[in-house]
Amino acid sequence: MQRNETPNISAHARWFPQARYGMFIHWGPYAEHARGEQVLFREHLDQAEYERRACAWNPQRFDAAAWAATAVRGGMKYAVLTTRHHDGYCLWDSALTDYTSVQQAPKRDFVAEYVEAFRAAGLRVGLYYSLADWRVPAYWEGPRRDPEGWAAFRAYVHGQVRELLSNYGTIDVIWFDGAWPQSAAEWKSGQLVEPIRQLQPEILINNRLGADDPADDVPGSVVPSTGRSRHLGDFGTPEHEIRAEAGLWESCQVSTWRLWGYTAGEQWRSAELLLDMLVESAGKGGNLLLNVGPTPEGELPAPFVERAEAIGRWLVVNGEAIYGVEAGEVCEFITCGRQTRKGDNLYLIVRFWDGTGTIRLGGLATRVRRAVLLASGQEVAFTQNSDHLLLTGLPYERPSALFPVIRLECDGPPRPTAWAADRLWQGDPARMTEWARQRGESVWVGR
Ligand code: GLC
Repeated sequence: MQRNETPNISAHARWFPQARYGMFIHWGPYAEHARGEQVLFREHLDQAEYERRACAWNPQRFDAAAWAATAVRGGMKYAVLTTRHHDGYCLWDSALTDYTSVQQAPKRDFVAEYVEAFRAAGLRVGLYYSLADWRVPAYWEGPRRDPEGWAAFRAYVHGQVRELLSNYGTIDVIWFDGAWPQSAAEWKSGQLVEPIRQLQPEILINNRLGADDPADDVPGSVVPSTGRSRHLGDFGTPEHEIRAEAGLWESCQVSTWRLWGYTAGEQWRSAELLLDMLVESAGKGGNLLLNVGPTPEGELPAPFVERAEAIGRWLVVNGEAIYGVEAGEVCEFITCGRQTRKGDNLYLIVRFWDGTGTIRLGGLATRVRRAVLLASGQEVAFTQNSDHLLLTGLPYERPSALFPVIRLECDGPPRPTAWAADRLWQGDPARMTEWARQRGESVWVGR
């Protein structure tokens, strides 16, 4: 695939790159511990005690419609909720266990409430499901040491997935996690995917279905053990990193400094940083799934809501530079910001507004017909030669609270010049030889 070209996407998946931005929700009884979603393992907590507390967990302020309203105001187009995390507690009415929000204290089917409210708000609906269940010895023992226990556990997992995809209407995304340390073969992931496709022909499945070979993981990745299959699933999920993958992909990121589940004393990333992650993902041709860990009582933390709404306000004005865009790092622009691309438009997302009233862009080969500052609708004056575009007459003050965006309307799909098609330390160095020859006289004595 050529850089800047979107992969061939089947019709039912087109909404996904169109959406570009979703909400990841990590919520379960671990929220009460306020030390992240993995507290059970990380602190080696007493299993029975954890379970007693989980069964008594009874959030009173969960209002799925309020969550959905924040997602809509935030400009998100879909969401993914943890129906079950590695602690094994289920937020839906599973017939296969009594460790659920329906049978324990809440007596509510949180998944049903979530699906209904998010769908009603016009959002696409995704379900996260952890294959791992840390309470089950066979999960740790694995198929070789405990073949029978493993087979029973795996049947339980497959059965729960079938429940989730049979009982809640159309589900747009199923998001697996926790395949480690077993391979796709051990999980029988191929056989898991088949009925999913029958039950939900339009669903998108992520690729954390277990490594195809236990030793086979994406080299150089920040998080090596997410159990990615190279053959199963419809999209990739780079975690804590924004790395372009060959097909559809979505970077999942925390909105805080540390953990996915609710954590006391958490530090929040600024709206500008979160927006920058969205812009970077879109600019590289992927989605951002931005996480929030609701409180034990069931509310979205206020700092998250503030940030989501600030980004949502930005998207009302500048959303055309995000939704449905293709990988757009067309030319050199690192000094000012990032780029996205849609049709004949190139969007300049200006991270650094330098107060000179001008912006320079090097290496755009395509002619620009018109330039517009989206924040004000102002048409921007410019000059362009074969190497440079100079925008002039811009406001000295940054015209919006978050990154201003300039739409360059070109007379064809934006393309870089030959030298700018590769970045500084990439590509064929010989492309620059002629350019170097244009030097003046003072090179060194004798030359
Ligand atoms: C990891 C973690 C988990 C989190 C997930 C999100 O695999 O185990 O806690 O839910 O990533 O991508």
